[in-house]
Amino acid sequence: MTVRLLAFCGSARRDSINRRLLGLAVAHARSLGAEVTELALTPSLLPLYDGDLEAAEGLPAAARELKAQFAGHDGFLIASPEYNGFFTPLLKNTIDWVSRPLADAPPPFAGKTAALFAASAGVLGGIRGLPHLRLLLSNLGVTVAPGQMALGRADQAYAADGQLADASQRAMLEKCVADLLRLTTGLKAV
Ligand SMILES: Cc1cc2nc3c(=O)[nH]c(=O)nc-3n(C[C@H](O)[C@H](O)[C@H](O)COP(=O)(O)O)c2cc1C
Repeated sequence: MTVRLLAFCGSARRDSINRRLLGLAVAHARSLGAEVTELALTPSLLPLYDGDLEAAEGLPAAARELKAQFAGHDGFLIASPEYNGFFTPLLKNTIDWVSRPLADAPPPFAGKTAALFAASAGVLGGIRGLPHLRLLLSNLGVTVAPGQMALGRADQAYAADGQLADASQRAMLEKCVADLLRLTTGLKAV
């Protein structure tokens, strides 16, 4: 049973250290047999959520497309920077739009799984943002894998080959991905 994952990052920055970490998770998931779609979130993709706009015009086309994309996957690989102890507004806004109801649309979140990652040049690796993201996704019916990874000193964490230099960090990333695949496979089976 092939697991289909959607991977996206809470930073749209060109040299995002979170997207770099996510890239390693994506590569590892593929090496374990998962199908992974990489989704590039950008601030111009969707307006800031606006109830009046939704009431007047319905969901923007990008939100409808994202809803279908989310619904078409079994789980999510998500990396986000920590902004003042929270995950980013880009991620929140995207999830808010995708969560809005649309007649006959399959559920974008309920029954899905997620693994969470963060990276920061600081020592805590952005870990303070992840419980909030975990709670948000749980509220939407996503089963979030218990393990997570926050990569501290992420600006210095990589070897010349692009892999994580520290073996324990490599092992943590690989475990997070493998655990997500096990969790997702188990949920798909019931
Ligand atoms: C508004 C703002 C708040 C931030 N707050 C934190 C923070 O609470 N903890 C932290 O480790 N880094 C914080 N940072 C630094 C980010 O971790 C850093 O900009 C990081 O590179 C962003 O991730 P990216 O490279 O994936 O874009 C903050 C950055 C911004 C712009």
